[in-house]
Formats: sequence, C-alpha cells, structure tokens
Amino acid sequence: MPSPTPIRFLFRGQPVEVPADTPTRTVLQWLREDRQACGTKEGCAEGDCGACVVLVGELADDGQRVNYIPVNSCIQLLPTLDGKSVKTVESLQAADGTLHPVQDEMVRCHGSQCGFCTPGMLIAARDLVLRHPDADEAIVRLEMSGNLCRCTGYMGIVNAVLRVLRERKQANTATPTTPHALVLGPVGAHTAPMSTHTASSSKESTVGSLPTLESASGSPSMIAGGGLRRTDGPLTSPDQS
Ligand code: FES
Ligand code: FES
Repeated sequence: MPSPTPIRFLFRGQPVEVPADTPTRTVLQWLREDRQACGTKEGCAEGDCGACVVLVGELADDGQRVNYIPVNSCIQLLPTLDGKSVKTVESLQAADGTLHPVQDEMVRCHGSQCGFCTPGMLIAARDLVLRHPDADEAIVRLEMSGNLCRCTGYMGIVNAVLRVLRERKQANTATPTTPHALVLGPVGAHTAPMSTHTASSSKESTVGSLPTLESASGSPSMIAGGGLRRTDGPLTSPDQS
C-alpha cells in the first residue's frame, strides 16, 4: 500500500510536513506534544473553554489573500490543516519583541491572572478587533463568550479589547486590503484540489465528491466543527495585526 500523502501546512509562516498516519490526532496534541508549542493551552479538551484557540488561515477564492478564523485546536483534527496556515499566540508578538496591541492592553488592563485562558483570549481578541471595528461592549462580550476565564473575571479583558478598538479608531487603522500574494506558497497550491487521501482519512472540499468517497470506502465517518463565531459580520479576519 502506498504511503499516505503527508499533511502540509504553514506553521507560523514556515512550511511543515507531517505524516498522515494519525488521522485522529488533534492540532492541539501536535502543537504541544510534537512541537513543544506550549503557549496554546489545554483546558477542557472538548471545545468548550477556548483555552486552545489558534488561528487557521485559508487561501481566499481570489487566490491573493489568506483569511483566518479562530478554531478550538483541541477538536480540530490535524489532517484538516492540509494546505492551510496556522498561527498561535506566539505569532502575535512582532519579530522585534513588540507586543501586539491586544497583548499590550491585556497587560495594562490587568486582564490576566493565572494566564491559563490568556492565549485563547488574545487570539479571539485579535480576530474580533479586525472583524468588528465598531464593536461595542455587548458585541465584545458576546464574541468572547466562548473563552472562559475562571480567575481574573471579565472586566479587565473586555476593557482591554475595547481600548484596542478605540485606539484603532483614533489612529484610523483600516483593515488593510493589501493582497498577500500567494502567501501560502507551495503549501497553498496543495489546496487544489484540496483532497488528501490517506489509508484511513480523506478531506473533501465539495459535497459533490462525497458519493464517490462513500462508494470507495463503505460508510465513512464525517467530522466538522472547531470554528468559533457568535455574531453576524465578516466570517474571517485578514492576515495582519
Ligand atoms: Fe477547552 Fe479546547 S481546551 S476548548
Ligand atoms: Fe486565570 Fe483567566 S487568567 S483563567
């Protein structure tokens, strides 16, 4: 039997290739156990607390941009990353060590105590300020409701997000439309036709391909989920800070 096609994706901007022989391994397990990327935390391990949230980016239809969504990495299976881009809390800080505005304000507003929820909070906050530039406190609370904090309380966290929103408005920071030409490079090219067959998993990008898959493999199990969205508005945030 031929070896399964490896899973290829960008991890913090660098291409990585992972053997596709463990289809039920989660993104969180890969991050923490295989890459020692322990900034991303495990809380409930069942998609409820938001401690494990990371950004997963996909090439937009125009092939010129990468759009990101925050996902619970504890219930996102590794093969679903094929052809995509993953960013974690460590990606927020600039190369020169400058904190991302959401990190900066979280410190100023005392939004972190034990810090266990903080990486997920920061990723969700970064996504929120880009997608909802006009968010008020109600929207902030709703959007962040999938991220649970059990020791700081939410006032500092909400205030930090509101301050970033205010600062971006005052500075007139527009969500950039700069095309990120084929940011995914050869890994992005892997998304066409975005179908990775392994000995025991298959990733299909269209509903139309499911009957073929079904006749080839009997009764396959289907999985979905992992993304976080709670209010109306843009579904993805761009590849920028
Ligand atoms: Fe709680 Fe993933 S660890 S949502
Ligand atoms: Fe401790 Fe949020 S800072 S759980």
